[in-house]
Amino acid sequence: MKKQIKLIAAGVGSRFGVYASYARRHPDEVSFVGFADANEERLRLHAEEFSVPAENCFSDAKELFNAGIEADGAVICTMDSMHYENAMDAMKNGYDVLLEKPLALSEEHCLELRDTAIETGRKLMLCHVLRYSPFFTKIKDIIDSGIIGDICTVQAMERVEYWHMAHAFVRGNWGNSKRSCPMILAKSCHDTDALLWLCGKRCKRVSSFGSLKHFKAENQPEGASDRCLDCKYGDSCPYSAQNNYIKRVEEGYTGWPVDVVMRDATVEGITEVLKTSDYGKCVYKCDNDVVDHQVVNMWLEDDIAISFTMSSFNTKHGRTIRVLGTRGDIDADMSEAKIELSVFGKEKEVIDLSDSMSDSAHGGGDDRLFADFLSLLRGDATNSKSQTPISHTADGYLVCFAAEKSRLNGGAVVEL
Ligand SMILES: NC(=O)c1ccc[n+]([C@@H]2O[C@H](COP(=O)([O-])OP(=O)(O)OC[C@H]3O[C@@H](n4cnc5c(N)ncnc54)[C@H](O)[C@@H]3O)[C@@H](O)[C@H]2O)c1
Repeated sequence: MKKQIKLIAAGVGSRFGVYASYARRHPDEVSFVGFADANEERLRLHAEEFSVPAENCFSDAKELFNAGIEADGAVICTMDSMHYENAMDAMKNGYDVLLEKPLALSEEHCLELRDTAIETGRKLMLCHVLRYSPFFTKIKDIIDSGIIGDICTVQAMERVEYWHMAHAFVRGNWGNSKRSCPMILAKSCHDTDALLWLCGKRCKRVSSFGSLKHFKAENQPEGASDRCLDCKYGDSCPYSAQNNYIKRVEEGYTGWPVDVVMRDATVEGITEVLKTSDYGKCVYKCDNDVVDHQVVNMWLEDDIAISFTMSSFNTKHGRTIRVLGTRGDIDADMSEAKIELSVFGKEKEVIDLSDSMSDSAHGGGDDRLFADFLSLLRGDATNSKSQTPISHTADGYLVCFAAEKSRLNGGAVVEL
Protein backbone atom coordinates (compact mmCIF):
# COMPACT_ATOMS: atom_id res chain seq x y z
CA MET A 1 0.00 0.00 0.00
CA LYS A 2 1.21 3.52 -0.86
CA LYS A 3 2.17 5.86 1.95
CA GLN A 4 -0.48 8.53 2.52
CA ILE A 5 1.00 11.96 1.76
CA LYS A 6 0.03 14.86 4.04
CA LEU A 7 -0.17 18.27 2.40
CA ILE A 8 -0.84 21.85 3.31
CA ALA A 9 -2.46 24.09 0.69
CA ALA A 10 -2.49 27.85 0.12
CA GLY A 11 -5.28 29.31 -2.02
CA VAL A 12 -8.26 26.95 -2.09
CA GLY A 13 -10.10 28.61 -4.98
CA SER A 14 -11.08 27.39 -8.40
CA ARG A 15 -7.86 25.57 -9.36
CA PHE A 16 -7.50 23.89 -5.99
CA GLY A 17 -10.69 22.02 -6.93
CA VAL A 18 -8.57 19.70 -9.07
CA TYR A 19 -6.50 18.57 -6.08
CA ALA A 20 -9.49 18.44 -3.75
CA SER A 21 -11.26 16.23 -6.26
CA TYR A 22 -8.27 13.88 -6.44
CA ALA A 23 -8.07 13.69 -2.65
CA ARG A 24 -11.79 12.88 -2.45
CA ARG A 25 -11.30 9.99 -4.86
CA HIS A 26 -8.01 8.77 -3.37
CA PRO A 27 -8.17 9.39 0.39
CA ASP A 28 -5.67 6.59 0.95
CA GLU A 29 -3.02 8.46 -1.11
CA VAL A 30 -3.38 12.03 0.13
CA SER A 31 -4.84 14.12 2.92
CA PHE A 32 -4.78 17.83 3.71
CA VAL A 33 -3.61 18.95 7.14
CA GLY A 34 -3.54 22.74 6.78
CA PHE A 35 -5.17 25.42 4.64
CA ALA A 36 -4.86 29.14 3.95
CA ASP A 37 -7.29 31.30 2.03
CA ALA A 38 -8.35 34.93 2.32
CA ASN A 39 -11.92 33.89 1.57
CA GLU A 40 -13.46 32.75 4.88
CA GLU A 41 -16.24 30.73 3.31
CA ARG A 42 -13.90 28.73 1.06
CA LEU A 43 -11.55 28.13 3.96
CA ARG A 44 -14.38 26.90 6.17
CA LEU A 45 -15.88 24.61 3.52
CA HIS A 46 -12.53 22.96 2.74
CA ALA A 47 -11.57 22.66 6.41
CA GLU A 48 -14.88 20.95 7.13
CA GLU A 49 -14.64 18.59 4.20
CA PHE A 50 -11.06 17.49 4.91
CA SER A 51 -11.36 17.64 8.73
CA VAL A 52 -8.58 20.19 9.10
CA PRO A 53 -8.57 21.61 12.65
CA ALA A 54 -9.16 25.35 13.13
CA GLU A 55 -5.62 25.90 14.47
CA ASN A 56 -4.27 24.79 11.05
CA CYS A 57 -6.44 27.20 9.05
CA PHE A 58 -5.22 30.71 8.19
CA SER A 59 -6.42 33.72 6.25
CA ASP A 60 -2.97 34.29 4.76
CA ALA A 61 -0.50 31.91 3.12
CA LYS A 62 2.48 33.34 5.02
CA GLU A 63 0.94 32.35 8.36
CA LEU A 64 0.32 28.83 7.08
CA PHE A 65 3.92 28.35 5.96
CA ASN A 66 5.28 29.77 9.23
CA ALA A 67 2.99 27.69 11.45
CA GLY A 68 5.31 24.70 11.66
CA ILE A 69 2.65 22.22 10.54
CA GLU A 70 4.07 18.76 9.97
CA ALA A 71 3.44 17.84 6.33
CA ASP A 72 5.16 16.14 3.39
CA GLY A 73 4.68 19.07 1.06
CA ALA A 74 2.74 22.17 0.08
CA VAL A 75 0.38 22.97 -2.77
CA ILE A 76 0.25 26.62 -3.84
CA CYS A 77 -2.82 27.71 -5.80
CA THR A 78 -2.89 31.41 -4.94
CA MET A 79 -3.03 33.99 -7.71
CA ASP A 80 -0.02 34.58 -9.93
CA SER A 81 1.29 37.65 -8.10
CA MET A 82 1.64 35.66 -4.86
CA HIS A 83 3.56 32.68 -6.26
CA TYR A 84 7.04 34.06 -5.68
CA GLU A 85 6.52 34.99 -2.03
CA ASN A 86 4.46 31.89 -1.21
CA ALA A 87 6.90 29.47 -2.83
CA MET A 88 9.86 31.17 -1.12
CA ASP A 89 8.13 30.98 2.27
CA ALA A 90 7.18 27.35 1.74
CA MET A 91 10.67 26.24 0.67
CA LYS A 92 12.41 28.22 3.39
CA ASN A 93 10.16 26.53 5.94
CA GLY A 94 11.23 23.13 4.64
CA TYR A 95 8.32 22.18 2.39
CA ASP A 96 8.60 20.58 -1.04
CA VAL A 97 6.22 22.45 -3.32
CA LEU A 98 3.71 21.92 -6.08
CA LEU A 99 3.30 25.43 -7.47
CA GLU A 100 0.66 26.58 -9.91
CA LYS A 101 1.90 28.25 -13.04
CA PRO A 102 3.34 30.78 -13.64
CA LEU A 103 6.50 30.25 -11.63
CA ALA A 104 6.75 34.00 -10.96
CA LEU A 105 6.02 37.30 -12.65
CA SER A 106 9.55 38.49 -13.36
CA GLU A 107 12.63 36.85 -14.74
CA GLU A 108 14.55 37.76 -11.56
CA HIS A 109 11.96 36.11 -9.32
CA CYS A 110 11.86 32.98 -11.50
CA LEU A 111 15.61 32.65 -11.28
CA GLU A 112 15.60 33.31 -7.51
CA LEU A 113 13.02 30.56 -6.98
CA ARG A 114 15.02 28.19 -9.15
CA ASP A 115 18.23 28.96 -7.26
CA THR A 116 16.57 28.73 -3.84
CA ALA A 117 15.17 25.31 -4.71
CA ILE A 118 18.60 24.14 -5.80
CA GLU A 119 20.39 25.64 -2.77
CA THR A 120 17.90 24.36 -0.18
CA GLY A 121 17.49 20.99 -1.92
CA ARG A 122 13.71 21.46 -1.94
CA LYS A 123 11.62 19.93 -4.71
CA LEU A 124 9.79 22.62 -6.65
CA MET A 125 7.38 21.18 -9.19
CA LEU A 126 5.33 23.37 -11.51
CA CYS A 127 1.79 22.50 -12.57
CA HIS A 128 2.60 22.12 -16.23
CA VAL A 129 -0.27 19.81 -16.98
CA LEU A 130 0.45 19.38 -20.71
CA ARG A 131 3.51 17.30 -19.90
CA TYR A 132 1.19 14.83 -18.19
CA SER A 133 -1.47 14.56 -20.86
CA PRO A 134 -1.19 11.24 -22.74
CA PHE A 135 -1.28 13.40 -25.89
CA PHE A 136 2.05 15.08 -25.12
CA THR A 137 3.66 12.09 -23.40
CA LYS A 138 2.97 10.04 -26.55
CA ILE A 139 4.56 12.72 -28.75
CA LYS A 140 7.55 12.81 -26.38
CA ASP A 141 7.88 9.01 -26.60
CA ILE A 142 7.80 9.14 -30.40
CA ILE A 143 10.45 11.88 -30.54
CA ASP A 144 12.68 10.13 -27.99
CA SER A 145 12.40 6.82 -29.88
CA GLY A 146 14.25 8.47 -32.77
CA ILE A 147 11.78 7.11 -35.32
CA ILE A 148 11.29 10.51 -36.97
CA GLY A 149 15.01 11.27 -36.90
CA ASP A 150 16.37 14.62 -35.73
CA ILE A 151 13.82 17.37 -35.18
CA CYS A 152 14.22 20.31 -37.53
CA THR A 153 10.98 22.24 -37.20
CA VAL A 154 8.06 22.41 -34.77
CA GLN A 155 4.89 24.27 -35.60
CA ALA A 156 2.60 24.63 -32.59
CA MET A 157 -0.66 26.42 -32.00
CA GLU A 158 -2.65 27.19 -28.91
CA ARG A 159 -6.29 27.83 -29.70
CA VAL A 160 -8.05 29.69 -26.93
CA GLU A 161 -11.80 29.47 -27.45
CA TYR A 162 -13.45 32.85 -28.02
CA TRP A 163 -15.60 32.56 -24.86
CA HIS A 164 -12.64 31.36 -22.74
CA MET A 165 -10.72 34.46 -23.85
CA ALA A 166 -13.66 36.68 -22.92
CA HIS A 167 -14.04 35.02 -19.53
CA ALA A 168 -10.46 34.79 -18.30
CA PHE A 169 -8.36 37.17 -20.38
CA VAL A 170 -10.75 40.07 -21.00
CA ARG A 171 -13.19 40.27 -18.09
CA GLY A 172 -11.43 37.98 -15.64
CA ASN A 173 -8.35 37.58 -13.47
CA TRP A 174 -5.84 37.58 -16.33
CA GLY A 175 -7.17 40.43 -18.50
CA ASN A 176 -4.88 43.13 -17.21
CA SER A 177 -1.13 42.55 -17.30
CA LYS A 178 -0.50 44.91 -14.38
CA ARG A 179 -2.89 43.03 -12.13
CA SER A 180 -1.70 39.63 -13.37
CA CYS A 181 0.86 39.21 -16.17
CA PRO A 182 1.23 39.14 -19.97
CA MET A 183 -0.70 36.45 -21.86
CA ILE A 184 2.48 34.65 -22.91
CA LEU A 185 3.23 34.06 -19.24
CA ALA A 186 -0.30 33.48 -17.94
CA LYS A 187 -1.48 31.11 -20.65
CA SER A 188 1.30 30.15 -23.00
CA CYS A 189 3.91 29.30 -20.36
CA HIS A 190 2.37 25.82 -20.68
CA ASP A 191 3.36 25.83 -24.34
CA THR A 192 6.89 27.20 -24.05
CA ASP A 193 7.42 24.66 -21.28
CA ALA A 194 6.03 21.73 -23.27
CA LEU A 195 7.91 22.65 -26.45
CA LEU A 196 11.31 22.79 -24.75
CA TRP A 197 10.55 19.60 -22.84
CA LEU A 198 9.51 17.78 -26.04
CA CYS A 199 12.67 18.83 -27.87
CA GLY A 200 14.93 18.30 -24.85
CA LYS A 201 17.01 21.31 -25.89
CA ARG A 202 17.61 24.81 -24.62
CA CYS A 203 16.40 27.89 -26.44
CA LYS A 204 19.03 30.30 -27.72
CA ARG A 205 17.06 33.05 -29.50
CA VAL A 206 13.49 34.37 -29.49
CA SER A 207 11.41 36.86 -31.46
CA SER A 208 7.73 37.67 -31.20
CA PHE A 209 4.85 39.74 -32.62
CA GLY A 210 1.38 40.19 -31.19
CA SER A 211 -1.20 42.69 -30.03
CA LEU A 212 -4.60 43.30 -28.52
CA LYS A 213 -6.50 43.75 -31.76
CA HIS A 214 -10.13 43.15 -30.96
CA PHE A 215 -11.22 43.51 -27.33
CA LYS A 216 -11.03 47.27 -27.00
CA ALA A 217 -13.39 50.24 -26.94
CA GLU A 218 -13.10 51.19 -30.61
CA ASN A 219 -14.59 47.81 -31.57
CA GLN A 220 -17.71 48.11 -29.40
CA PRO A 221 -20.73 47.84 -31.74
CA GLU A 222 -22.69 51.04 -32.16
CA GLY A 223 -25.32 51.56 -29.47
CA ALA A 224 -24.02 48.71 -27.30
CA SER A 225 -24.25 49.08 -23.52
CA ASP A 226 -21.28 48.81 -21.21
CA ARG A 227 -22.98 45.95 -19.36
CA CYS A 228 -24.36 42.91 -21.19
CA LEU A 229 -27.64 42.49 -19.38
CA ASP A 230 -29.08 45.71 -20.76
CA CYS A 231 -27.38 45.55 -24.15
CA LYS A 232 -29.41 45.29 -27.36
CA TYR A 233 -26.80 42.86 -28.73
CA GLY A 234 -27.21 40.49 -25.76
CA ASP A 235 -28.29 37.43 -27.77
CA SER A 236 -26.38 38.12 -30.94
CA CYS A 237 -22.99 38.99 -29.41
CA PRO A 238 -20.92 35.79 -29.15
CA TYR A 239 -19.08 37.22 -26.14
CA SER A 240 -22.15 38.38 -24.16
CA ALA A 241 -22.61 37.36 -20.54
CA GLN A 242 -25.99 35.98 -21.56
CA ASN A 243 -24.30 33.53 -23.94
CA ASN A 244 -21.26 32.88 -21.77
CA TYR A 245 -23.03 32.21 -18.48
CA ILE A 246 -26.84 32.47 -18.30
CA LYS A 247 -27.49 30.28 -21.35
CA ARG A 248 -25.21 27.60 -19.91
CA VAL A 249 -27.07 27.60 -16.58
CA GLU A 250 -30.39 27.43 -18.49
CA GLU A 251 -29.02 24.31 -20.15
CA GLY A 252 -28.25 22.81 -16.74
CA TYR A 253 -24.47 23.43 -16.71
CA THR A 254 -22.91 24.97 -13.60
CA GLY A 255 -19.22 23.97 -13.95
CA TRP A 256 -16.27 26.12 -15.05
CA PRO A 257 -16.42 29.02 -15.98
CA VAL A 258 -19.92 29.51 -14.58
CA ASP A 259 -18.77 28.49 -11.09
CA VAL A 260 -16.16 31.25 -11.10
CA VAL A 261 -19.01 33.76 -11.33
CA MET A 262 -21.28 31.90 -8.91
CA ARG A 263 -21.04 28.58 -7.12
CA ASP A 264 -24.05 26.28 -7.65
CA ALA A 265 -25.58 28.87 -9.95
CA THR A 266 -29.28 29.23 -10.67
CA VAL A 267 -30.60 31.31 -13.58
CA GLU A 268 -32.05 33.92 -11.21
CA GLY A 269 -28.97 33.95 -9.00
CA ILE A 270 -26.40 34.37 -11.76
CA THR A 271 -28.52 36.97 -13.54
CA GLU A 272 -28.46 39.04 -10.35
CA VAL A 273 -24.68 38.59 -9.89
CA LEU A 274 -23.98 39.59 -13.50
CA LYS A 275 -25.71 42.94 -12.98
CA THR A 276 -22.71 44.13 -10.94
CA SER A 277 -19.90 41.60 -11.47
CA ASP A 278 -17.00 42.22 -13.87
CA TYR A 279 -18.19 39.10 -15.70
CA GLY A 280 -21.27 41.07 -16.80
CA LYS A 281 -19.21 43.80 -18.48
CA CYS A 282 -19.07 44.43 -22.22
CA VAL A 283 -15.89 42.81 -23.55
CA TYR A 284 -15.11 46.05 -25.35
CA LYS A 285 -15.27 48.08 -22.13
CA CYS A 286 -13.07 46.22 -19.65
CA ASP A 287 -9.67 47.24 -18.30
CA ASN A 288 -7.95 44.43 -20.24
CA ASP A 289 -4.68 44.96 -22.05
CA VAL A 290 -3.29 41.46 -22.69
CA VAL A 291 -2.82 40.36 -26.31
CA ASP A 292 -5.48 38.38 -28.13
CA HIS A 293 -3.06 36.95 -30.70
CA GLN A 294 0.68 36.41 -30.67
CA VAL A 295 3.35 34.49 -32.53
CA VAL A 296 6.69 33.45 -31.07
CA ASN A 297 9.71 32.12 -32.95
CA MET A 298 12.32 30.14 -31.06
CA TRP A 299 15.73 28.98 -32.18
CA LEU A 300 17.01 26.05 -30.14
CA GLU A 301 20.29 24.23 -29.76
CA ASP A 302 20.83 21.73 -32.59
CA ASP A 303 19.28 24.12 -35.15
CA ILE A 304 15.68 23.37 -34.17
CA ALA A 305 13.24 26.09 -35.25
CA ILE A 306 9.92 26.41 -33.42
CA SER A 307 7.05 28.65 -34.39
CA PHE A 308 4.28 29.02 -31.84
CA THR A 309 0.97 30.81 -32.36
CA MET A 310 -1.59 31.75 -29.73
CA SER A 311 -4.95 32.99 -30.95
CA SER A 312 -8.21 33.73 -29.13
CA PHE A 313 -10.41 33.50 -32.15
CA ASN A 314 -11.40 29.86 -32.21
CA THR A 315 -14.44 27.68 -31.82
CA LYS A 316 -12.21 24.72 -30.99
CA HIS A 317 -10.13 24.69 -27.83
CA GLY A 318 -6.75 23.04 -27.49
CA ARG A 319 -3.40 22.59 -29.14
CA THR A 320 -2.19 21.44 -32.50
CA ILE A 321 1.40 20.50 -33.14
CA ARG A 322 3.51 19.37 -36.08
CA VAL A 323 6.97 18.02 -35.46
CA LEU A 324 9.05 17.66 -38.60
CA GLY A 325 12.08 15.39 -38.37
CA THR A 326 14.72 14.16 -40.79
CA ARG A 327 13.03 10.74 -41.10
CA GLY A 328 9.38 11.44 -40.51
CA ASP A 329 6.78 13.76 -39.04
CA ILE A 330 4.07 14.04 -36.43
CA ASP A 331 0.81 15.88 -37.10
CA ALA A 332 -1.34 16.04 -33.98
CA ASP A 333 -4.54 17.68 -32.75
CA MET A 334 -5.17 17.62 -29.01
CA SER A 335 -8.87 18.46 -29.25
CA GLU A 336 -9.35 15.40 -31.46
CA ALA A 337 -7.07 13.28 -29.25
CA LYS A 338 -5.35 12.18 -32.44
CA ILE A 339 -1.71 11.85 -33.48
CA GLU A 340 -0.70 11.02 -37.04
CA LEU A 341 2.77 9.55 -37.28
CA SER A 342 4.41 9.31 -40.70
CA VAL A 343 7.78 7.71 -41.15
CA PHE A 344 9.15 8.54 -44.60
CA GLY A 345 8.42 5.74 -47.10
CA LYS A 346 6.00 3.94 -44.74
CA GLU A 347 2.27 4.06 -44.25
CA LYS A 348 0.87 6.69 -41.89
CA GLU A 349 -0.10 5.48 -38.41
CA VAL A 350 -3.07 7.15 -36.70
CA ILE A 351 -2.99 7.01 -32.91
CA ASP A 352 -6.29 7.59 -31.11
CA LEU A 353 -5.90 8.66 -27.48
CA SER A 354 -9.50 9.59 -26.72
CA ASP A 355 -9.92 6.98 -23.96
CA SER A 356 -6.83 7.90 -21.97
CA MET A 357 -7.28 11.65 -22.37
CA SER A 358 -10.80 11.90 -21.02
CA ASP A 359 -10.27 10.72 -17.46
CA SER A 360 -9.36 14.18 -16.08
CA ALA A 361 -9.16 17.79 -17.28
CA HIS A 362 -6.34 19.23 -19.43
CA GLY A 363 -6.39 16.17 -21.69
CA GLY A 364 -5.93 13.79 -18.77
CA GLY A 365 -3.03 15.87 -17.42
CA ASP A 366 -4.52 17.06 -14.13
CA ASP A 367 -4.82 13.75 -12.27
CA ARG A 368 -1.56 12.38 -13.65
CA LEU A 369 0.36 15.47 -12.60
CA PHE A 370 -0.93 15.39 -9.04
CA ALA A 371 -0.34 11.64 -8.77
CA ASP A 372 3.23 12.22 -9.94
CA PHE A 373 3.78 14.95 -7.33
CA LEU A 374 2.62 12.50 -4.67
CA SER A 375 5.01 9.89 -6.09
CA LEU A 376 7.82 12.43 -6.01
CA LEU A 377 7.14 13.08 -2.32
CA ARG A 378 7.05 9.35 -1.64
CA GLY A 379 10.40 9.10 -3.42
CA ASP A 380 9.29 6.72 -6.16
CA ALA A 381 8.91 8.98 -9.21
CA THR A 382 12.31 8.53 -10.77
CA ASN A 383 10.90 7.05 -13.99
CA SER A 384 8.46 9.83 -14.78
CA LYS A 385 9.45 11.36 -18.11
CA SER A 386 7.27 14.33 -17.42
CA GLN A 387 9.39 15.61 -14.56
CA THR A 388 12.43 17.75 -15.05
CA PRO A 389 14.50 19.45 -12.38
CA ILE A 390 13.54 23.07 -11.75
CA SER A 391 16.81 24.10 -13.44
CA HIS A 392 15.22 22.94 -16.73
CA THR A 393 11.64 23.88 -15.99
CA ALA A 394 12.68 27.50 -15.47
CA ASP A 395 13.92 27.66 -19.10
CA GLY A 396 10.40 27.85 -20.52
CA TYR A 397 9.87 31.00 -18.45
CA LEU A 398 12.98 32.63 -19.83
CA VAL A 399 11.44 32.15 -23.28
CA CYS A 400 8.21 33.86 -22.12
CA PHE A 401 10.07 36.90 -20.81
CA ALA A 402 12.20 37.07 -23.94
CA ALA A 403 9.10 36.82 -26.15
CA GLU A 404 7.35 39.64 -24.32
CA LYS A 405 10.46 41.78 -24.49
CA SER A 406 10.72 41.13 -28.22
CA ARG A 407 7.02 41.83 -28.81
CA LEU A 408 7.25 45.15 -27.02
CA ASN A 409 10.34 45.94 -29.04
CA GLY A 410 8.83 45.45 -32.48
CA GLY A 411 9.86 41.80 -32.81
CA ALA A 412 13.58 42.31 -32.22
CA VAL A 413 15.55 39.13 -31.60
CA VAL A 414 16.34 38.46 -27.92
CA GLU A 415 19.35 36.28 -27.14
CA LEU A 416 19.10 33.91 -24.17
N1 LIG B 1 -2.07 24.59 -14.19
C1 LIG B 1 -3.12 25.05 -14.83
O1 LIG B 1 -3.42 24.62 -15.91
C2 LIG B 1 -3.93 26.12 -14.20
C3 LIG B 1 -5.29 26.27 -14.54
C4 LIG B 1 -6.02 27.31 -13.92
C5 LIG B 1 -5.40 28.14 -13.01
N2 LIG B 1 -4.08 27.98 -12.73
C6 LIG B 1 -3.39 28.85 -11.77
O2 LIG B 1 -3.91 28.62 -10.47
C7 LIG B 1 -3.80 29.81 -9.68
C8 LIG B 1 -5.11 30.07 -9.00
O3 LIG B 1 -6.11 30.33 -9.96
P1 LIG B 1 -7.64 30.20 -9.57
O4 LIG B 1 -8.41 30.25 -10.83
O5 LIG B 1 -7.83 29.06 -8.64
O6 LIG B 1 -7.86 31.57 -8.78
P2 LIG B 1 -8.86 31.80 -7.57
O7 LIG B 1 -8.98 33.28 -7.43
O8 LIG B 1 -10.10 31.00 -7.76
O9 LIG B 1 -8.07 31.19 -6.32
C9 LIG B 1 -7.07 31.88 -5.63
C10 LIG B 1 -7.38 31.76 -4.16
O10 LIG B 1 -6.35 32.42 -3.40
C11 LIG B 1 -6.98 33.01 -2.28
N3 LIG B 1 -6.13 34.03 -1.64
C12 LIG B 1 -6.07 35.36 -1.88
N4 LIG B 1 -5.17 35.95 -1.04
C13 LIG B 1 -4.65 34.95 -0.29
C14 LIG B 1 -3.69 34.91 0.73
N5 LIG B 1 -3.07 36.04 1.16
N6 LIG B 1 -3.37 33.73 1.30
C15 LIG B 1 -3.99 32.58 0.89
N7 LIG B 1 -4.92 32.57 -0.08
C16 LIG B 1 -5.25 33.73 -0.66
C17 LIG B 1 -8.27 33.59 -2.85
O11 LIG B 1 -9.21 33.88 -1.84
C18 LIG B 1 -8.70 32.45 -3.76
O12 LIG B 1 -9.54 31.53 -3.11
C19 LIG B 1 -3.37 30.91 -10.64
O13 LIG B 1 -2.03 31.21 -10.47
C20 LIG B 1 -3.59 30.32 -12.02
O14 LIG B 1 -2.69 30.81 -12.98
C21 LIG B 1 -3.35 26.98 -13.29
